[in-house]
Amino acid sequence: MKLLLIGAGNMASAILKNLINYNITVVEKNQKRTEELKWLYPDITFLSTPPEITDYVVILAVKPQVLDTLELRGRAFALISILAGVPLSTLKYKVQAKYYIRAMPNIAALRQKSVTSLTGDIEFKEGAIEILSSIGKTIWLNSEKELDIATGLAGSSPAWLALVAEALSDGAVALGLPREKAYEYLPMLFEGVGALLEDQHPAILKDKVMSPAGTTACGYAKLEEGGVRNSFIEAIKSAYQRSQELRKG
Ligand SMILES: NC(=O)c1ccc[n+]([C@@H]2O[C@H](COP(=O)([O-])OP(=O)(O)OC[C@H]3O[C@@H](n4cnc5c(N)ncnc54)[C@H](OP(=O)(O)O)[C@@H]3O)[C@@H](O)[C@H]2O)c1
Repeated sequence: MKLLLIGAGNMASAILKNLINYNITVVEKNQKRTEELKWLYPDITFLSTPPEITDYVVILAVKPQVLDTLELRGRAFALISILAGVPLSTLKYKVQAKYYIRAMPNIAALRQKSVTSLTGDIEFKEGAIEILSSIGKTIWLNSEKELDIATGLAGSSPAWLALVAEALSDGAVALGLPREKAYEYLPMLFEGVGALLEDQHPAILKDKVMSPAGTTACGYAKLEEGGVRNSFIEAIKSAYQRSQELRKG
């Protein structure tokens, strides 16, 4: 596969780091960024404007608003877009390609731990999964509606889970634990729960920790009192609604 990565910002840099063994060309208009990346990847070709895209698998990673100004010549073999809220119909109108895929990675791509949602032409499903597996786990979805739902669940939720992490340490600090000690717990805490969720239902995990009249049960009641469960449900719903609005422009 001949890859063409267009836009080499935050998300694309994470992708690039894991695709250096492919035949890949990068298009990046920011000169400073290009110099930094050239230093890291001396064997990769960097261009400031796109070449003809014919036969390339194009990975589009510019900001959504840049799409309007992007002029691409030729017909790609496949287009993989990571642009939030930009539907396949717009991509088809803007870029000529045989196959189209929409993908939604998350920020954990920086550590190869993204859970990336994908949808689009089934004929290029395996190719897209191969490319995006380089930044973590991939989940193929059957429609753009599902992808828009997963945008909140996987794309936005790292920010919400960061809020949970910060709030937990705020509570510990309020009681007198030094801030740096409280933060020291967080990575392993999230990793540990993640590992357990691989093969345990969340409700069973919760029940295992929550002994009768114990500390967890007391804290759990406080979380319910604060409407935490419902707040997360509403957060997912509003992220979905917002992605619908963005999709309509
Ligand atoms: N960050 C996330 O967590 C995340 C998650 C899922 C999806 N996404 C999607 O990923 C895309 C990129 O996000 P990002 O956070 O990585 O943005 P970003 O850091 O701003 O990266 C975009 C890069 O593309 C460059 N660029 C702009 N116009 C260009 C052009 N015509 N040709 C080539 N390069 C061009 C920009 O240069 P300048 O700085 O000079 O404009 C910038 O370096 C967005 O569409 C976003 O919806 C991001």
